[in-house]
Amino acid sequence: MIEVQHLYKSFEEKEVLKDISAIFEKGKTNLIIGRSGSGKTVLIKNLIGLIRPTSGEILYDKRNLIAMAKKELKTLRREMGMLFQGSALFDSMTVLENVMFPLTMFTRNNWKEREKRAKFCLERVNLTDADNLYPGEISGGMMKRVAIARAIAMNPDYLFCDEPNSGLDPKTSLLIDDLIHDITKEYNITTVINTHDMNSVMNIGEKIMFINEGRKAWEGTKDEIMTSTNTELNDFVFASDLFKKVKEVENYNNEEG
Ligand SMILES: Nc1ncnc2c1ncn2[C@@H]1O[C@H](COP(=O)(O)OP(=O)(O)O)[C@@H](O)[C@H]1O
Ligand SMILES: [Mg+2]
Repeated sequence: MIEVQHLYKSFEEKEVLKDISAIFEKGKTNLIIGRSGSGKTVLIKNLIGLIRPTSGEILYDKRNLIAMAKKELKTLRREMGMLFQGSALFDSMTVLENVMFPLTMFTRNNWKEREKRAKFCLERVNLTDADNLYPGEISGGMMKRVAIARAIAMNPDYLFCDEPNSGLDPKTSLLIDDLIHDITKEYNITTVINTHDMNSVMNIGEKIMFINEGRKAWEGTKDEIMTSTNTELNDFVFASDLFKKVKEVENYNNEEG
């Protein structure tokens, strides 16, 4: 579980995050949703200790990231898996080498052990027979799978995904969402996902926080999102025509029933 308390972040004059408090639960896909520019990426960067908040607390199972010395932060980082916009694979390494990379960096396991673990992770994301290919030789969906395999190689307790579906077609997006969701359950990971994709919200939105212009404007589940009367949230949801229709039907049914 990750707990955020009264988090603020400003860049010079510009206040990007304003008094964000939230809990990201273990074994759940915790979604941060909001428009482009609302502060989702800045929030994730604060969570992983890549940028320092102006004020506020970030607690990793009670351990305060803000108070940590470099060495402690380094240890904590090894408990985190990360999946960033784009897949951020190393182009000059094969698929297998990409997944072995964190193991090479952070463990003293020998080559055979690292290879075994990397192959296991690649199998888990249903990517076999691609070990020796380079990122330039595989599809965007496959690259995303490699990035997920690499993110789970160290068996993380915390998994961060920034727009995991960017650049993917809707069908592949669903598969990637499902994969992240299943892995979260299987290994009981605290997973935090940034997205502005309403399909993802409805597919894997177990716990959703909506941020609008740097403030937490709403939180709830994917079922609650459909019946919410929060106007800021609805403006965001209604931007997608399909969900406008779904919501009209929901509201109609609620009035009827
Ligand atoms: N390093 C930075 N310096 C100044 N402003 C920044 C920096 N990083 C992000 N911002 C600003 O913070 C706001 C939120 O950005 P971001 O978190 O990337 O939005 P989102 O991920 O929701 O699309 C934007 O207005 C962006 O320009
Ligand atoms: Mg972003």
